Amino acid sequence: MTSPIRRIAICTGGGDAPGLNAVIRATVTAAANRGWSCMGIRNGFNGILQPERYPTGGVMELTRDQVRGIAHLGGTLLGTTNKGDPFHFPLTLPDGTLTEIDRSDEILDYFQREGIDALVSVGGDGSLTIANELHRKGLRVVGVPKTIDNDLDKTFTTFGFDTAVSFATECLDRLHSTAESHQRVMVVEVMGRYAGWIALHAGIAGGAHAILIPEMAFDLDKVAAKIRERDADGRLYSLVVVAEGALPQHGQRAVLAPAEIGHAERLGGIGEQVARDLAQRTGKEARTVVLGHLLRGGSPTSFDRLAALRFGSAAVRALDEGLSGVMVALGFPNVNYVPLEEVAGRMKAVPPDCDTLQTGRDLGVCFGD
Ligand code: F6P
Repeated sequence: MTSPIRRIAICTGGGDAPGLNAVIRATVTAAANRGWSCMGIRNGFNGILQPERYPTGGVMELTRDQVRGIAHLGGTLLGTTNKGDPFHFPLTLPDGTLTEIDRSDEILDYFQREGIDALVSVGGDGSLTIANELHRKGLRVVGVPKTIDNDLDKTFTTFGFDTAVSFATECLDRLHSTAESHQRVMVVEVMGRYAGWIALHAGIAGGAHAILIPEMAFDLDKVAAKIRERDADGRLYSLVVVAEGALPQHGQRAVLAPAEIGHAERLGGIGEQVARDLAQRTGKEARTVVLGHLLRGGSPTSFDRLAALRFGSAAVRALDEGLSGVMVALGFPNVNYVPLEEVAGRMKAVPPDCDTLQTGRDLGVCFGD
């Protein structure tokens, strides 16, 4: 029998995604409807672990009034970070070397001291792994799946993905006319880390002629052949979408900065590489557009906004039902709950036989394989 809830906290961690504010709004409001108060932790868990950085408080009470009219806003009113894992918190030693320490007990102590009964943790793989570990240490936790990359398992989709795909599709729509006017190859690099969901969905929706995703190592000769074939047909321009983590068959992933303590490797640069190599192979002019963080900014689409509001509300219902250690997930027609254990550390890659990929093949898209 779990004790009744009176007070919960919410935090947002990892890279931001459109819809975070909608989750916050629904969580705070659903909590208030049950007579619970809701605290917001700033910048992941850093509001608790580095209170000195927040002169106005690292943890703040979130009232109904504070979350009114925010569901359509991008970003997160709490702030976020990918440098604050309490289990591997970065610490600079007196000699200047960087190490990491486990500060997770401080989170549990804080919750106990402040009378906070449960946590709603909104984040991607990293944040949900932390949420799972905190749950294993005895904290009541419900996770909410967030990432523009859509690479979290056991949920139909994450919020943020639809907004990223919609924006990338609009960019591709715009690039068709300029590419055609100049008879160029336009290479569009999109985020997605080791999963090609954004590249695949936006590429097909936006009529790309080649799509290169991390799940399928690519051979640029095949892409060059596709471009030549289009040229021979009088279609003198081509659009190529490449995921930041796409892997050349005989090469390396393009890494901007290697992994370091407290931070995963930073990907980027494959677009420029592909454009240069395609120009060489085809003799055509090629240009690169890197959509990068533009995919994470701006207002959530109505799909993401609704998913995020449903997730926030479902997270509070889960806590009310006495659940812990679960993630709310999008199913059809309802949201459901899956154990965090089954999600943490597992990436949802694009299955090579999925129908979206087959649709691309039927449409004549080259995947470089
Ligand atoms: O996980 C979302 C994501 O958008 C990835 O696609 C990308 O590699 C990463 O964030 C970049 O994050 P940042 O620049 O914030 O470190």
